[in-house]
Amino acid sequence: MPTPDARIIGLDGLSRQAAPAMVRADLPFIRNPTLKYRESTVFNTTDVRRHFPSLHRTQGGRPVVYFDNPAATQVPQEVIDGFRNYFEQHNANTGGAFDTSRETDQLIEQARASMADLLGAASPGEISFGQNMTSLTFQVSRALGRVIQPGDEILLSRLDHDANVAPWLALVEQGAVIRWIDIDPLTATLDLESAAAALSDRTRLLAVGYASNAFGTINPVRRLTEMAHAYGAWVFIDAVHYAPHGPIDVQDLRCDLLVCSAYKFFGPHLGILYARRQVSEAFSVYNVQSASEVAPHKWETGTQSYESLSGLVGAIAYLRSLSSQTEGSGRDHLRSAMTAILQYERTLSERLLAGLTPLPGVHVYGITDPSQLDRRVPTVSFVIRGKDPALAASELADAGIFTWAGNHYAAEPLHRLGLPATQRIGLVHYNEMHEIDRFLEALTRVASSAIHPQPPAMVR
Ligand SMILES: Cc1ncc(COP(=O)(O)O)c(C=O)c1O
Repeated sequence: MPTPDARIIGLDGLSRQAAPAMVRADLPFIRNPTLKYRESTVFNTTDVRRHFPSLHRTQGGRPVVYFDNPAATQVPQEVIDGFRNYFEQHNANTGGAFDTSRETDQLIEQARASMADLLGAASPGEISFGQNMTSLTFQVSRALGRVIQPGDEILLSRLDHDANVAPWLALVEQGAVIRWIDIDPLTATLDLESAAAALSDRTRLLAVGYASNAFGTINPVRRLTEMAHAYGAWVFIDAVHYAPHGPIDVQDLRCDLLVCSAYKFFGPHLGILYARRQVSEAFSVYNVQSASEVAPHKWETGTQSYESLSGLVGAIAYLRSLSSQTEGSGRDHLRSAMTAILQYERTLSERLLAGLTPLPGVHVYGITDPSQLDRRVPTVSFVIRGKDPALAASELADAGIFTWAGNHYAAEPLHRLGLPATQRIGLVHYNEMHEIDRFLEALTRVASSAIHPQPPAMVR
């Protein structure tokens, strides 16, 4: 007989039959009377999950729980079909006077147009592709290195992934001065006062993340962009972690450059650079002599992965299909779908944090206040006191629950909080409430075999 709360678990309809068997009434998150969930009016995760073949993988007779999404998301069938279709039908290099080559040219344009729709870019010509976010960011930093003067300042944040830090630190050799936006270690949120204090007429670039891949914090990037533009600085946004979780609108943000990675938003391994047209024109980019000096091509080195672009088109078509709107442009559908994802994920965050924070021996970092959940995505770092995160991750893996342990390449933020490593889980829209309950139950077991000394230091 399911517990009263177990009966209302799951926004999806499918999981509500399966969930009660996995739920234990003696866990704190089940006793929490504030956990009441309505039937989802957003979208049906049963339908969503049918798109993802890998979600059917089992271990020990039970479905695998993919909570490793900040490292890599699973892909829908549309992406797999995109790869197959490209290799079976259109495989060629570009610019040839024959069908498969022309089709490849068309595919690239289609991929740019799809990405422009996803990001709200003014035109597909503002979208360039590369191997991943890191290589595109180095491409931009090398180009910035050509115009930077000794003493020019670059403002970075202590909350960022190293891929939005190291490429800019490389410019110190050319005389750039690095300034930092600090964070509040208790909430892992940016300290805007330190941003205001660090900006000056010398600031050439602000490079900041849209959301933290370690703590899930959503940064006030529009506000920061305004602040930096007031000093004439360019703004570069790392949207890798935010892209799977909510709508992005580069024109509303008014940012100059923005990068993301398709494998983090249900697509293949490739990076995407948005560069506002006027900004691209201001840069002279390192490239071969025969390459076009005009955007979007100027940012792209060598031959692209056309099969991945075909997969990307499939990923964006999948996201568009989640829209419940009956009319509107492709952009409208994507905005609606990503807004629905954002809303659904907030309910995941709510249940996850309500269950995780009271667990004995577990310390959760970042925003945990239920009234502040609109400032985070469901990516959560925690430690079990007295237990190595890597060991905890491997014990959860034995139970078929995939999580991550380490510094997540978020070297600055972890250092700032005095942490060598955390355990991290990250949920996306194909995750379901009963998976959270299964995770919490397993984590309770894993935590019970740890010694619980004092919580780790939070300030360095
Ligand atoms: C927030 C963030 N930025 C940048 C990166 C680097 O992305 P890529 O692997 O595409 O270079 C990652 C990868 O984990 C990330 O999470």
